[in-house]
Amino acid sequence: MTTQLESLRSHSLVVADTGDIEAVARWKPQDATTNPSLLLTSAEDPRYRHLMDADMDRVFVNFGCEILKHIPGRVSTEVDARLSFDTQGSIAKAQRFISLYEKQGVKRERVLIKLASTWEGIKAAEKLEREGIHCNMTLLFSFAQAVACADAGVTLISPFVGRIYDWHKQARKVDDIPVEDDPGVASVTRIYTYYKKHGYATQVMGASFRKTGQILALAGCDLLTIAPDLLDKLAKADGEIPRRLSPEKAKAQSVDKVNWDEKAFRWEHNQDAMATDKLAEGIRRFDADARKLEKLLTSLSAAVPAK
Ligand code: E4P
Repeated sequence: MTTQLESLRSHSLVVADTGDIEAVARWKPQDATTNPSLLLTSAEDPRYRHLMDADMDRVFVNFGCEILKHIPGRVSTEVDARLSFDTQGSIAKAQRFISLYEKQGVKRERVLIKLASTWEGIKAAEKLEREGIHCNMTLLFSFAQAVACADAGVTLISPFVGRIYDWHKQARKVDDIPVEDDPGVASVTRIYTYYKKHGYATQVMGASFRKTGQILALAGCDLLTIAPDLLDKLAKADGEIPRRLSPEKAKAQSVDKVNWDEKAFRWEHNQDAMATDKLAEGIRRFDADARKLEKLLTSLSAAVPAK
């Protein structure tokens, strides 16, 4: 009998969403994703003390390099949330990450630079892609963000499911929303359909899951990045999973192409209250966790006796 995880792997590329290197080694995914919150958790773990450095960029790259030892594919490393509205600053940070990776012998093909899907972040990604620096657009909640990312020719987007589900649960004052009505699942399905229908090369990686049902409902999505606790549940459950998303199904849909410039992007994104709330909150949360990590690094380097 096949497990749900094995079956899922026949439809989508499964990615590990974690900063826990041992978990990556255990699950042996193709790719792995990190974010500042995940790396704060790992940095607090004494097992990873040897990866600490006073410079937070170096810590992110140290984790990335360790993760790459266990996977054949790419690791995602996220740009500081303080640069979310700074195109030039984001480009400079991404170039620094790539240069730190290259100093450790890692080629840029194995790294995805994660940037917030603000207009400024998307413009940074557009320029970086032209330099051969591949990007993973994160904190993606609205259709407008997805359209702008595809038009910018980015390598990959990470539309969030769980945080959309969280917002709607709170708005509706309910404890759960069944998968069939899940607005996070619907958002990824809509984006995937639009991309495949109109022949965009940008890959879609569903992210931010709260339960396995959300993952199974997106079987067939190009990639799915999944936290270790949910990977574990999928590996323990038996059963074949039907494919839900496919290019053929998407192409059979009637979906108009849109042409949105910056003004239209800002208008359309702003029309979506969930997306504006969640993008702003996501930037604040990643920023807060990065500041905590910086404090931790300062205290650790103060504790290390000078050589
Ligand atoms: C991955 O790219 C995202 O950072 C991650 O899936 C977010 O998950 P969360 O909503 O559980 O924090």
